[in-house]
Amino acid sequence: MSRLQTPRLKDLHPLARLGVTLLVVTLLGGYALSGLHLRWHYDNRDEQAGFTLDDVRAAYHGITSESPLLGALNAGHPEDLGETDREALVAWLESDTINIDYDNFDLGDEAPAEIIAVSCLDCHSRNATGTDAYPRVPLDGADDVLSIAYSRDVQPSPVEILAVSQHTHAPTMALVLLVVGALGVMTRWWRWLTGFVLAVGGLGLLCDMGGQWLARDNDAWVYAIVGGGIAYAGSVMLAGLGVIVDLWLPGGKASRD
Ligand code: HEC
Repeated sequence: MSRLQTPRLKDLHPLARLGVTLLVVTLLGGYALSGLHLRWHYDNRDEQAGFTLDDVRAAYHGITSESPLLGALNAGHPEDLGETDREALVAWLESDTINIDYDNFDLGDEAPAEIIAVSCLDCHSRNATGTDAYPRVPLDGADDVLSIAYSRDVQPSPVEILAVSQHTHAPTMALVLLVVGALGVMTRWWRWLTGFVLAVGGLGLLCDMGGQWLARDNDAWVYAIVGGGIAYAGSVMLAGLGVIVDLWLPGGKASRD
């Protein structure tokens, strides 16, 4: 009984191998760019600089968090703060002009910067020392204060957008790995290795795409989106590089089993 042999890239005409090489190089280059695009596109999704897990969380699950400053004030901290001052600070933190009004000259003594200087800095200055001091949450200037002044309420992308995005991404991303993976199994690399890369990439893509829907209700799926995406991208890269190496590696006997 002879088993049907998988065709081998090595047997292709040199021109065909050249063509496949150039196409795979272009494909990998394009994927590197889409990685970059992803970064830029989601960078500010969580309303904070830098590309982090929270950007992905914001896009697919949404993020709501209260400003720590507002939370402390609403919880009655600090106890001896006058009612007018507390109300002024709360109104400021709930406004759309947090940035502008922080040290708004027109607000006089009720300017947030003034209230904070008078009522908070004894304990919240970097070099505050008293027994009740809490320099771990410094409020020394605009940078310190504004970094904890904003509440976040980021809604996930609407399902329509998700559907539009996936109806092109899911099929093309699956096809790309199908092609590179199929080329991969036609190399002289170990069959278990090319199979493993293909299986991991396939599972990764499914987790990534499925996770984008499931994360709406349960943010644990954010890890599936990110982990799946990385597994998929890694598989495409590995399979692509494996194909290129195999196309030009001279001689050698087949070691596919
Ligand atoms: C008498 C000292 C004292 C004063 C005055 C004071 N704080 Fe605090 N603050 C603390 C201490 C101690 C903590 C940490 C323990 C706690 O949460 O009560 C704290 C915690 C906080 C936190 C962090 C809460 C968290 O979630 O971790 C914020 C925000 C805060 N203060 C804001 C302010 C603001 C705004 C003012 C002025 C309006 C102020 N504090 C005045 C002592 C002070």
